[in-house]
Amino acid sequence: MLLDVSNLTVCYDRAMLINDVSLYVEEGEMVSLVGPNGAGKSTLLRAITGLVAWDKMTLKGTAEGDITLKGNIVFDGKDISKTPAHEIVRRGLVHCPERRRPFKEMTVRENLMSGAYLHMKKWDVQQELEKVFKLFPVLGDRLNQVSGTLSGGEQQMLAVGRALMSRPKLLLIDEPSTGLAPLMRKEVFNKILEIKNLGITIMLVEQEVASVFSMASRSYVLSSGKIIAQGKCSELLEDEMIRRTYLGL
Ligand SMILES: Nc1ncnc2c1ncn2[C@@H]1O[C@H](COP(=O)(O)OP(=O)(O)OP(=O)(O)O)[C@@H](O)[C@H]1O
Ligand SMILES: [Mg+2]
Repeated sequence: MLLDVSNLTVCYDRAMLINDVSLYVEEGEMVSLVGPNGAGKSTLLRAITGLVAWDKMTLKGTAEGDITLKGNIVFDGKDISKTPAHEIVRRGLVHCPERRRPFKEMTVRENLMSGAYLHMKKWDVQQELEKVFKLFPVLGDRLNQVSGTLSGGEQQMLAVGRALMSRPKLLLIDEPSTGLAPLMRKEVFNKILEIKNLGITIMLVEQEVASVFSMASRSYVLSSGKIIAQGKCSELLEDEMIRRTYLGL
């Protein structure tokens, strides 16, 4: 098992955003995480990648500082529930956050390089860049362009490309298709499938259930911070109540 989360609970002040969540991801899988707006999907990814712990540390003593984080997170055989976010990335658990646009004032090259930042000394970064260009040729063509001037779809590709520069074993991608035109959404999903076929394990958060269910093998359905259903996508689709209430199908 590559990722094993058990009994994860996150409270910001008195709001319980994640309520006793357990989930796992096997190596090589693509698993999806779906659920209504505000269900806690992004918070769950942030908790797994050490960002809730970061909030807890940095917001200490402020009005928002009362954050509770409980549970166990094991990645690649090691407990990471107390591991700092940058060390989690270094170990290969990489988060491509929601609505994240790349650093807009930086060039495409600078953005991509920032993804390899922790590994600069050890790796042949040029080789990593080549791999990203193979997947996203448009980024290779636009290397010196300021990222804020790329289209929305290109910026999303850049955000994924930057995450790939950290050489993830497990990539958590939060709503990559949101705000993109239908053709571009399709393109983004195709690229994610290509990434999976490169052998990278993926957990994908998406609003567009039909698309993500056609790619993922299993899914978790999150509602009000709780996993209310899980299993093979094909089985979840057969459940009328889940279809209508949670999947909007
Ligand atoms: N830092 C925070 N402090 C307090 N409440 C928060 C914080 N971040 C998120 N929330 C609240 O937690 C709940 C879960 O938010 P989250 O962004 O994780 O949901 P989501 O499933 O990703 O939603 P969406 O589909 O809109 O992206 C929401 O009610 C949100 O308002
Ligand atoms: Mg979200």
